[in-house]
Amino acid sequence: MYRYAAFVLFLAFGSVFQLSHGIEVNVKDKAGKLCLYANLMVNFSVSYEVAGNKSATVEFELPSNSTTDGSECDDRSSTLKLNFGEHSWSVNFTINGETYQADYITFSYNLSDATVFPNSVLNDTLAVTVKPHITDVAKDTCYSCKSKDMIEDISVNQTLWNVLIQAFVSNGSKSENISSCAADLPTTPVAPTTHTTSTTTAAPVTNATSPAPPTTTAPTPTLPTPSTGKYIINSDDNSTACLLATFGLRIGFKQAEKYQEMNLEPNTTTVSGSCGVNSSELVLVSNSMTIMFTFTNDTKKFRLHALNITGKTSSGVVFSEANTNLSLWEAAISSSYMCNKEQNYTITSLLTLYTFDLQVQPFGVKKGVFSTAEECFLDSDLSFLVPIAVGVALSFLIILVLISYLIGRRKSRTGYQSV
Ligand SMILES: *[C@@H]1O[C@H](CO)[C@@H](O)[C@H](O)[C@H]1NC(C)=O
Ligand SMILES: *[C@@H]1O[C@H](CO)[C@@H](O)[C@H](O)[C@H]1NC(C)=O
Ligand SMILES: *[C@@H]1O[C@H](CO)[C@@H](O)[C@H](O)[C@H]1NC(C)=O
Ligand SMILES: *[C@@H]1O[C@H](CO)[C@@H](O)[C@H](O)[C@H]1NC(C)=O
Ligand SMILES: *[C@@H]1O[C@H](CO)[C@@H](O)[C@H](O)[C@H]1NC(C)=O
Ligand SMILES: *[C@@H]1O[C@H](CO)[C@@H](O)[C@H](O)[C@H]1NC(C)=O
Ligand SMILES: *[C@@H]1O[C@H](CO)[C@@H](O)[C@H](O)[C@H]1NC(C)=O
Ligand SMILES: *[C@@H]1O[C@H](CO)[C@@H](O)[C@H](O)[C@H]1NC(C)=O
Ligand SMILES: *[C@@H]1O[C@H](CO)[C@@H](O)[C@H](O)[C@H]1NC(C)=O
Ligand SMILES: *[C@@H]1O[C@H](CO)[C@@H](O)[C@H](O)[C@H]1NC(C)=O
Ligand SMILES: *[C@@H]1O[C@H](CO)[C@@H](O)[C@H](O)[C@H]1NC(C)=O
Ligand SMILES: *[C@@H]1O[C@H](CO)[C@@H](O)[C@H](O)[C@H]1NC(C)=O
Repeated sequence: MYRYAAFVLFLAFGSVFQLSHGIEVNVKDKAGKLCLYANLMVNFSVSYEVAGNKSATVEFELPSNSTTDGSECDDRSSTLKLNFGEHSWSVNFTINGETYQADYITFSYNLSDATVFPNSVLNDTLAVTVKPHITDVAKDTCYSCKSKDMIEDISVNQTLWNVLIQAFVSNGSKSENISSCAADLPTTPVAPTTHTTSTTTAAPVTNATSPAPPTTTAPTPTLPTPSTGKYIINSDDNSTACLLATFGLRIGFKQAEKYQEMNLEPNTTTVSGSCGVNSSELVLVSNSMTIMFTFTNDTKKFRLHALNITGKTSSGVVFSEANTNLSLWEAAISSSYMCNKEQNYTITSLLTLYTFDLQVQPFGVKKGVFSTAEECFLDSDLSFLVPIAVGVALSFLIILVLISYLIGRRKSRTGYQSV
């Protein structure tokens, strides 16, 4: 009976096609319509304990004959589950507004499988849960990532590549529209070239048929403008706000030759911090980064004095960059600092901070609202005067030269006549 049920479930929920390039999965909903499509390759590297206090590491691929029992989808969440032998690999997806994302990957492996884990001391089934780098995929598009993406954990590394997934298929057929991962996007130079010595660097010939994983070149993801977050710290004694900050934030991190940008997602950011007389702190923690802002009060003005950012790039590299000698976002104590235009700040040689729609007030917040704003120069109404002033000055100079020329001419002519 149970076997029969499982068989029906299998028929109802999924089918697997073995392709030369990975495993293709079609998961159907209860009405029999395609609701999740996936075509991907996964390599596992697992270290486990063997006799003599030693550890062994095995590498294997997600077999293409895996089954899809346990895969399912509904309107808000979907699960891709692939089972092979005593093991299983699954990814959970959720919808988040107009985008969807993979929330976690769970890999469960049974060490008593001696063909995969020979000489294992343990015979337990272990599971690792990791967070994949599949986020902000536009609804009704397929997420595509041909590049290798290694997700590290203590004893298991998972490498995903040639990934094509549509976790929410709306009308029964896979979308032709693709959301590519950052690593797949064409590379553009990021180094600011101050003077253009046009050395014609031979553009790499893109060959559509060959899967060329860009491993050494720097991918520059074109990220959407980060969403604006509103962050509030309350004073200890009173539940009134003592620090206010709103901004959209992006960081750029240089790692070896690679440069990578990441947006702070306000939706998944937790806020903490403290207000002091001479120093206030704002700490933002998201899935990908932790940012600590330290503001100081020098009696007349406040400024952003220190910034400490720790994070993890999509390739899993952990970084921590800090500058404790900054002088940014300066304004009078009884006011707030505002800068609506996009700004970039070099925090360290490796880290750049980008802000959008910025307004902060780390001291003297009254009634939970921002005090009068002191705007950054780029925002201020006077900034448009700069080109006008330059123009006026130039015209003045030209007139001056003309006048002196005319006077000079007349003088020389009269001089000539008088002789
Ligand atoms: C080997 O394992 C045993 C018991 O698990 C432990 O007592 C011993 O210290 C270990 N030896 C080494 C060299 O780690
Ligand atoms: C994946 O694993 C297979 C078998 O172990 C190996 O041949 C292949 O090179 C691996 N691929 C990657 C990208 O690690
Ligand atoms: C953030 O959450 C709000 C509601 O909670 C939602 O409307 C918005 O689309 C979300 N934004 C993103 C980028 O997920
Ligand atoms: C692990 O595999 C062994 C041998 O195949 C089996 O007896 C055991 O039930 C499995 N454990 C789990 C949790 O599935
Ligand atoms: C698993 O290991 C324990 C202790 O090492 C042993 O008692 C048990 O019989 C083993 N179970 C299997 C299924 O091999
Ligand atoms: C995972 O990858 C890291 C970095 O390449 C390596 O140091 C580690 O040994 C790997 N772990 C496993 C289990 O393969
Ligand atoms: C796919 O992209 C085309 C062109 O951008 C657009 O017209 C179409 O609506 C998109 N389809 C889906 C399902 O998003
Ligand atoms: C594409 O790559 C293949 C194999 O690497 C090669 O034979 C072919 O000439 C390439 N085509 C172009 C247009 O570069
Ligand atoms: C708490 O805040 C209210 C107004 O926001 C103020 O009237 C009151 O004095 C404050 N209490 C303390 C203990 O600071
Ligand atoms: C700023 O510092 C001065 C001197 O330490 C202090 O008197 C003042 O209250 C502080 N301002 C705020 C808003 O905390
Ligand atoms: C930055 O924060 C990290 C993690 O909290 C910490 O280890 C490091 O010491 C901090 N760096 C500075 C300069 O404060
Ligand atoms: C940083 O800002 C300056 C002007 O504020 C601008 O010229 C420059 O292009 C910006 N750099 C980046 C990488 O956005």
